[in-house]
Amino acid sequence: MVLKTLLEERLSHAMEELGIPKDCTPMVAVSARVQNGDYQANGAMAAAKRAGLNPRELAHRILEKVDLDGIVESIEVAGPGFINLRICAKFLGTALSNSTPENSSTRAVQTVVIDYSGPNLAKEMHVGHLRSTIIGDCIARVLEYRGERVIRQNHVGDWGTQFGMLIAELELHLGKGEPANLALDDLEKFYQQAKRHFDEDPQFAEHARAYVVRLQSGDDHCRSLWRQFITISIKHNLDIYQRLNVGLSEEHIKAESAYNEQLAGLLQRLTDQQIAVDDQGAKVIYLDELADKKGRPSAMIVRKSDGGFLYSTTDLAALEYRAQTLNAHRVLYFIDARQSLHMQQVFCAGRRAELVTSGVKLEHHAFGTMMGKDGKPFKTRSGGTVKLADLITESAERAAQLVQSKNPDLNDEDIATIARKVGIGAIKYADLSKTRTQDYVFDWDEMLSFEGNTGPYLQYAVTRVGSLFKRAGLDMRTFAAPARIDQPEERALALALLQFDDVIEQVASECYPHVLCSYLYGLTSAFMTFYEACPVLKKETPSAIQDSRLQLCKLTAEKMSCGLDLLGIEVMPTM
Ligand code: ARG
Repeated sequence: MVLKTLLEERLSHAMEELGIPKDCTPMVAVSARVQNGDYQANGAMAAAKRAGLNPRELAHRILEKVDLDGIVESIEVAGPGFINLRICAKFLGTALSNSTPENSSTRAVQTVVIDYSGPNLAKEMHVGHLRSTIIGDCIARVLEYRGERVIRQNHVGDWGTQFGMLIAELELHLGKGEPANLALDDLEKFYQQAKRHFDEDPQFAEHARAYVVRLQSGDDHCRSLWRQFITISIKHNLDIYQRLNVGLSEEHIKAESAYNEQLAGLLQRLTDQQIAVDDQGAKVIYLDELADKKGRPSAMIVRKSDGGFLYSTTDLAALEYRAQTLNAHRVLYFIDARQSLHMQQVFCAGRRAELVTSGVKLEHHAFGTMMGKDGKPFKTRSGGTVKLADLITESAERAAQLVQSKNPDLNDEDIATIARKVGIGAIKYADLSKTRTQDYVFDWDEMLSFEGNTGPYLQYAVTRVGSLFKRAGLDMRTFAAPARIDQPEERALALALLQFDDVIEQVASECYPHVLCSYLYGLTSAFMTFYEACPVLKKETPSAIQDSRLQLCKLTAEKMSCGLDLLGIEVMPTM
């Protein structure tokens, strides 16, 4: 149940009865200060302004009208017309017992297409792909939890001039009798080799260029080399997703090349509609909507003068497919902020060409860069790009040392399993807990700390509740008792628990994972405070109170594991 929604409904109803226009909402939010109550409604001020009334007077009239019997224990007007509400303890207890997850049963299910990860297959995945992959994955999980129909689209880069060079290089290796999987064992090294050949050997370079043309015209030999390359590269990506606990698999790959067949027809239509125009042999879409300061329209090339199509052309085709074949209500793109102009161009041109109807929401959710401690983009010691495979391995190694020092009795196998989850959890949480649009500094020591707003700290809170139940000799899964809210720390925890669905709703619409992280951190803090102040398994605690507190512990562990799962982070019985 969403407590905030319930309060909003009741207050709206009262406002409506007072003749206040429907678009004036009660604006309910969690109170910033406990002394002011649990929730605050600020809508009376704006409504009074609209109706030319005194805001405090209107607030009082709303109070007289509103029916919140059994829900609030006090409600009062404060300051210029705030309404402060304090939820009744008994209601909190009941609401907690009935807290089934809010889902889409009362709303129409939306089809949401989510474009995330999208690495370039020419090279190995590196840290530059991390943010899109884990932020997109979190939002996919959140929307699925809300009951939406989520379609993941991994728009991998498997096309373009680089592939001429790569397949020419592959042909050399195969010619020497080296099997493809061996030659491509280290994609990064392979790429460097091909690049060196291309730069230093004019004959090779010419050969590579010819292969681009042959590849694009569907030549069998080139296609077969290309396919071998792509297959191995995809395998590498799928392995990374699995190690990262990211829900992308083969079926979610819809590569750039998948749209090749559509491009010529699309260009023809854009030309017929006079949206794409000739410019020195190229086809260009001029977008006045995105004009610069001097009023010059933004130019989006959709076909080069040599006849080649571009990244933009493919994105237009992908947009059409998502809107018209997948029937998306919302299309979300998780791509680096540096591609903001590109996305705006795609959206504007797509709308103008009516590839999408106006009802479809197109959203580019951009993010900043992962920085090193030196304030520059995160690199290896020698200044190279950090491979994701190495980052994942390092996280597990670092976490293993930590787990071992905290828990010397564990065997190696257990340590490895725990370390894997803690390491990945730390990396993901450090990223997801920062405001997505900003750059952030990647710092191993900070993210692996067991104190503060970190992944391990939150994972540990869940483990702790598990061991509490073990100590009590109870099975947490089947345990159930009524929650009685009495102490202030119990109240604070109950209120935090009841905010879960509110937070999920906000994350689903705004796509900022840090909102969920801050909530989970706040919930953990409320739990720790409660746990200090309200003894659970102490002899002097009467059994009804003990049961009620155990119930609060159980609900905390459930919400925490659910929330962490939505972040793509696993929990474990021992840590
Ligand atoms: N492959 C692209 C890159 O590495 C990202 C693809 C993002 N998705 C899209 N529809 N453009 O920059």
